[in-house]
Amino acid sequence: MISVRRFAEFAIALSIVALAYNTSAQESKKPFEPVPGMPGKDSVWVPTPFATLEKMYDMAKLTPKDFVMDLGSGDGRAIIVAAKRGAPGLGVEWNQDLVDLSNKLAAEAGVSHLAKFVRGDMFAADISKASVLGLFMLPDQLAKLTPKFLAMQPGSRITVNGFGIPGWTTDSTERATGECGTWCTAHLYIVPAPVEGTWRLGDGNLTLKQSFQMLTGTLTIGGKATPIANGRLNGAEIAFTAGETQYTGRVDGNSMTGAMKGQASGSWSASRK
Ligand SMILES: C[S@@+](CC[C@H](N)C(=O)[O-])C[C@H]1O[C@@H](n2cnc3c(N)ncnc32)[C@H](O)[C@@H]1O
Repeated sequence: MISVRRFAEFAIALSIVALAYNTSAQESKKPFEPVPGMPGKDSVWVPTPFATLEKMYDMAKLTPKDFVMDLGSGDGRAIIVAAKRGAPGLGVEWNQDLVDLSNKLAAEAGVSHLAKFVRGDMFAADISKASVLGLFMLPDQLAKLTPKFLAMQPGSRITVNGFGIPGWTTDSTERATGECGTWCTAHLYIVPAPVEGTWRLGDGNLTLKQSFQMLTGTLTIGGKATPIANGRLNGAEIAFTAGETQYTGRVDGNSMTGAMKGQASGSWSASRK
């Protein structure tokens, strides 16, 4: 016969096992809460402060006509903040828990119709449809993605929290105002049209060398080569000086058109040779 005491001990042991089981079951159902510094595929998760995101989108002059992407989108905040401004967007994130959390936060913010998230590798993502990028990643990751950035439509805006894109001079850098502790510096890069090469400009040859949005080169007319000064692109808009003449214009694929002022004036056009 089992004594009353042994039975009571057995029952207590059973309840301890049940309690442990329930506690661990409840724990496994606990909502996922990301912790800053949490490891990710190629970098840890550190969120961009909301004040910095607002500054990034102010600098990018974000409108509802844009399509925003974030690569390594964490808890989805860059895409959700853009969606709250009316802009559709897509976040690409490797960690499925963060993707699920992003979808939940987008639903809570009432922007699920604009803010979408997929699990994927930031380096494999197709960014060709994006007109604005809102990024926070390490310099070597930005460097690795630079060829993809330069293949975006001219005039696309890349906004970056903290780290700049190696080798690419920013079009502007500003600090977030208001509530922002760390990671409050925002950089803007405007994707330049690709113009490197030789162009036929009137009776002359315009040879351009391009480093991101900066241009050097020569304008050769009648055998006389004049160096290009102050050469710069702002998306598809081009400006340079040759001698005493200032050229401004617009690049459209393999042709450029614009106006001259200074020693020569009027309109100019060029086509790629
Ligand atoms: C510094 S956090 C930035 C989060 C978010 N963009 C923001 O600004 O708040 C970097 C994020 O990239 C994710 N990540 C790391 N390597 C990745 C990869 N190869 N592909 C996609 N996501 C990645 C991490 O899980 C983390 O969420």
